[in-house]
Amino acid sequence: MILKFLLYSFFTIIGISCQTHENRVAFNLRTTIDYWRFVVSILVRGDLIKVEYEWEFHCGGVIITSTYALTTGWCIKKLIDEEIPIHDMIVRGNTETWNCSCGRKRDHTIQGFVMHENFKESASPFSPTVYTNDIGIISVIDEFNGLYEVPSSYRMGTMFWTSQKLESVVVGWGYESKTAKGISDRLHYGTVKLYDRQECESRFRGVLPPHVYCIMLHQTPNVCTYESGGLHTGFINQYNILIGLISSGIRCDSVLPTLITNISEFTNWVKGRMKENDNMWPIR
Ligand SMILES: *[C@@H]1O[C@H](CO)[C@@H](O)[C@H](O)[C@H]1NC(C)=O
Ligand SMILES: *[C@@H]1O[C@H](CO)[C@@H](O)[C@H](O)[C@H]1NC(C)=O
Repeated sequence: MILKFLLYSFFTIIGISCQTHENRVAFNLRTTIDYWRFVVSILVRGDLIKVEYEWEFHCGGVIITSTYALTTGWCIKKLIDEEIPIHDMIVRGNTETWNCSCGRKRDHTIQGFVMHENFKESASPFSPTVYTNDIGIISVIDEFNGLYEVPSSYRMGTMFWTSQKLESVVVGWGYESKTAKGISDRLHYGTVKLYDRQECESRFRGVLPPHVYCIMLHQTPNVCTYESGGLHTGFINQYNILIGLISSGIRCDSVLPTLITNISEFTNWVKGRMKENDNMWPIR
C-alpha cells in the first residue's frame, strides 16, 4: 500500500514549505501546533509486520467545526481506492508531530468521509497532475476539543482575497527536501508568493480549473512530496485566515508552481455537505 502511495505521490502530491532560511537548509522551517491549532494529520494503520509503528501518514487536514475536518479530494479518493477500512484510519490533532507517541496527541475515530462528486484528475507527464474539485470532508466521532484543536473558518478566505494579500504561508508535513528519507515528523511551513494567474494558465495549457490557483515558495526548492491536504493560510493584521488546500505539484521543483484548491470557491459545497444528515455520509 505504501509503495503504491509513494508512486502516486511522486507526481501528485505536493510538498510544502521547501524553504530556505539563514541556515540554508532546504524548506524546513519547523513550527509548533500552537501557531496552527487547526491543523491535523490523517493517518492510516501501518503494516505491523513491516513497520514497527502503528500509524502511517496519509494527508494533512484542517479542523473546520468540532466534528469536521477539510482535506483534499485526492486524500479521500486514495482511502477509497486502497479500500482502507474506516477503523484503520484516524484523524490526529493537538500535536505538531504526527508520529508522536506523546500524551498530547488526540486521536479521533472517523465516522465518514466524502470527496467532491466531480473530483477529477488530469494527468500530464510534464507538469503536476491537475486536480479538479480537489476537496473533501472527514467527520469524526469524538469531538475536536483539545487545547490545540481549534476550528478555522472555511468561509473567511474572501477577506484575504480582497485584502492587500501581503503575507501567506503553507503549512504541513511531507518531505523537507528532495533527498529526505521520509516524511517529516514535524510540522513545517514556508512563506509563499502568489503566482500570476495568466502565467500559471499558460504553463498548464488551459487545463487549470478556475478554483485552482498557483503559488511558489519564496525560496527554492519549492514544495516537495506528501503535502496533499496541507494548508495555505493568509494573514490580515496577524489574524490567520484559511484560504487554500495544497493540491499538487512536482516534487521539490523550483520552476513549476504548486497548485492550490481555492477554498472560497467551495464554501457552499462544504456547508451543504455538512448540513446533510450524518447517516448520509458515503462511508462505503
Ligand atoms: C515514528 O516513530 C517511531 C518511534 O519513535 C519510529 O521508530 C518510526 O521510525 C517513526 N516513523 C516515521 C515514519 O517517521
Ligand atoms: C479564490 O476564490 C475567491 C472567491 O471566489 C475569489 O474572490 C479569489 O479571487 C480566488 N483567488 C484566486 C487566487 O483565484
